[in-house]
Amino acid sequence: MATTAETRLSFTKHPHPAPVAADVRAQVLANPGFGTAFTDHMVEIDYTEGAGWHDARVIPYGPIALDPAAAVLHYAQEIFEGLKAYRLADGGIALFRPEANAARFNASARRLAMPELPEDLFVEAVRQQVLADKDWFPTVEGGSMYLRPFMFASEAFLGVRPAKQYKFMVIASPAGNYFKSGAPAVSIWVSDYTRAAPGGTGAAKCGGNYAASLVPTAEAFSRGHDQVLFLDAAERKWIEELGGMNLFFVFDDGSILTPELTGTILPGITRSSLLTLAAEEGLTVREGRYSLDQWKADAASGKLVETFACGTAAVVTPVGKVASHEGEFTIGSGGPGQLTQKLRQKLVGIQRGEIADTHGWVTRI
Ligand code: COI
Repeated sequence: MATTAETRLSFTKHPHPAPVAADVRAQVLANPGFGTAFTDHMVEIDYTEGAGWHDARVIPYGPIALDPAAAVLHYAQEIFEGLKAYRLADGGIALFRPEANAARFNASARRLAMPELPEDLFVEAVRQQVLADKDWFPTVEGGSMYLRPFMFASEAFLGVRPAKQYKFMVIASPAGNYFKSGAPAVSIWVSDYTRAAPGGTGAAKCGGNYAASLVPTAEAFSRGHDQVLFLDAAERKWIEELGGMNLFFVFDDGSILTPELTGTILPGITRSSLLTLAAEEGLTVREGRYSLDQWKADAASGKLVETFACGTAAVVTPVGKVASHEGEFTIGSGGPGQLTQKLRQKLVGIQRGEIADTHGWVTRI
């Protein structure tokens, strides 16, 4: 029977009849990479206008049937989240700030004219996904289970208006290092393309933003860099973010800066956690505008000592080199900076239950 959004849904469970063999799974877990292997199950919940969210289920991972006229395939009505589950030192399992992902998911839903999912249902869906596949935690150092909740318009309709039917799903992927190069610090290419314009969808986590970043990212790769950097669309001057990560700048006066949330930047949950942790380290924390020219000048004068990228997938990754059509410059020694490493250790320590969680960020499941 259909249930409305106001009702707490219970999940029906359909265990996989032929899960991945244990020896094959063990191989994957020893060398997971990022985003290539998927666990045995997935979560699916349907939405129908009038009935609300209904039919929550945990089912075997596999292809889904979709009408070729499904609105998502034509007008890209789709949003997603990224969060991780961690195997703790004491053997337990925890999620990091899942309610923050749930809130951001709903902010994205509002921007894309999609129905909101009750936050507790989002968190419960993620929990169900992890519990169904709790044998899928990587065995490598730094490994975690990457969770990808997403929602798309499934209604078969070609008129341009918000759809009346949606699917919310969660899939899981054992994850190691996001960057393939494994270099101690990454190199980034400043793109001539822009990612988000004022009034656009830059602050929403929608697939379209990432589709638009693919050509600039491919350009960065072909030039030998690990990531792309986007400047603002209006003046092509101010630093915004990387292809899927926020940026932080560390100065010699004990301050740290990250681009302010102007509506064109994704409000990262790792970003927000690091702002808190940096303040606790005694740093002066600033959210503001920072230009590419100033960055270059500060790196040359030694005023800027470190730069790092952050995100759920990237965690905290030092930036060593920056290149654009105007030439390139190096940050500090070109390797990981001290503060970058300290913040990374603190964040990861909290996420893995090795450092006390004084913020209520860790949710045991
Ligand atoms: C994440 O860090 O979770 C993201 O969504 C970035 C993605 C492009 C891998």
